[in-house]
Amino acid sequence: MKFEISQNSLTNISAAASLVFAFEKDQSNSFAVLDKALKGVLRDAVRQENFKGKLGSVLHVHTHGKILSGKVYVLGLGKKEDLDANSLRKAFSLLAKDIKGRTGSIALEFLSKSETKVDILTQAQVISEGILLGSYEFNKYKSKDEKEKELELAVFAQIDDKNKQDVESGIKSAELFYKATRLARDLVNESAAVVTPTALSVIARDLTKENPEIKCEVYDRKDIEKMGMGAFLGVAQGSDTPPKFIYLEYSPKNPKNKTKLALVGKGITFDSGGISIKPGDSMMTMKCDMAGAAIVLGVFSVIAKVKPDFTVMGMIAATPNLISGKSLVPGDVLRAMNGKTIEILNTDAEGRVTLADSLSYAVKKGATHIIDFATLTGACMIALGQDITALFSNDRNFAEKIKDSAKLAGEKVWDMPLEEDYKDLNKSEVADIANIPSSRYGGAITAALFLEAFVDKKPWIHLDIAGPAFTEKAFDYGPKGGTGYGVRTILNLLKNW
Ligand code: BES
Ligand code: MG
Ligand code: ZN
Repeated sequence: MKFEISQNSLTNISAAASLVFAFEKDQSNSFAVLDKALKGVLRDAVRQENFKGKLGSVLHVHTHGKILSGKVYVLGLGKKEDLDANSLRKAFSLLAKDIKGRTGSIALEFLSKSETKVDILTQAQVISEGILLGSYEFNKYKSKDEKEKELELAVFAQIDDKNKQDVESGIKSAELFYKATRLARDLVNESAAVVTPTALSVIARDLTKENPEIKCEVYDRKDIEKMGMGAFLGVAQGSDTPPKFIYLEYSPKNPKNKTKLALVGKGITFDSGGISIKPGDSMMTMKCDMAGAAIVLGVFSVIAKVKPDFTVMGMIAATPNLISGKSLVPGDVLRAMNGKTIEILNTDAEGRVTLADSLSYAVKKGATHIIDFATLTGACMIALGQDITALFSNDRNFAEKIKDSAKLAGEKVWDMPLEEDYKDLNKSEVADIANIPSSRYGGAITAALFLEAFVDKKPWIHLDIAGPAFTEKAFDYGPKGGTGYGVRTILNLLKNW
């Protein structure tokens, strides 16, 4: 998929399809010029089809050779006064999904100043981002004739010299954000047989080849034991698949800023539940349990281009949670790297156990700020549904920062409380803490409180992405499966730190 900039007007460009806009409850249309060339065909089509211009709705009109492009798409943008960068991105993603397989190229002009307050750079970014996100497919296992024709080209028409640079930089940002998101989606969509801890570590290592600013260390089972990561090791002991602890570090050449941000991703490559086995239906999507790790790798895949002026570290404790004669059993006690002991009462609450060591490691590495991403609890999905990430933090300023970044990305997060009084629910009779609470209510909160015990009071944000990381049906920004949610939020955070 490529983007091109042209000085020509829409009527003078020969793309397979031209795109124009319509607003809801607004007669003044932006397609007058094209409509004139088409002798009123567009206006008639809009009327006949009773096209209302709802955000992301698309009307297909054939031009029968009257203009250069074979067809015109009318894209609804909703109510003019409601249109902002996020709704524009969404409209274009829905467009890309709608025209998937139907056309190889489209041409369009940006919205004018009288139509929107969204500036040209932002329009270029969100329109390109929307098109890219909506065009995403995971089809490598489909036979050739099952694959859809891809959109290959989008031409932005009538861009004069004054706007050229803005448009180019908008496109560049969009391509970067998409590259990172696509990697995260692909990793989640791939089967657990392919996305093993070793495979994740190879991807991490390969990032250092292209980027001298990035270094990577990979630790295997023996190292993990030596490092005292008894919690991670415990979860990994049930599987013959070699576990890996992956450490990434990006350091700018001359760091101006003393910040050391740690990005910690849950890296359970498949969650069967272990001995506390999940029912079959709940296991169907559990290749998604490394979505947090996928965010970390996605972000690191473009971090050298985003160029934050401070150190960013990535940590992933990667292992499947499987069943064998060597698996953890309820009642086992593990010792995490920070010395705290954990009583395992349910082997399916494995994410927090592996994160205990990843977070301890982040503290040990001198992180000044920590963000973890984890498909941590089903309870979070009960609380907030499938679209919303739960945000927990011990630092209000830090939390507000990431909420601003999420807003820019159009990704939904919601504040949740680290309720002091619930800490007692995680008490263990025999160890420092238990891996499941004594009450099943507030499960997303008690899981977050468990993690808090391993961050040593450092400014920390926990994002429970159990809902949005993976969708069981197609959504606004792509097909069913991995969403890459979180990646664009973090890239914004790095950009605007
Ligand atoms: N990976 C799951 C959480 C999950 C569920 C993510 C659904 C995405 C979709 C996690 O390891 C888990 O199994 N959590 C348990 C915790 C419980 C045993 C305290 C859960 O939520 O049921
Ligand atoms: Mg589990
Ligand atoms: Zn899990």
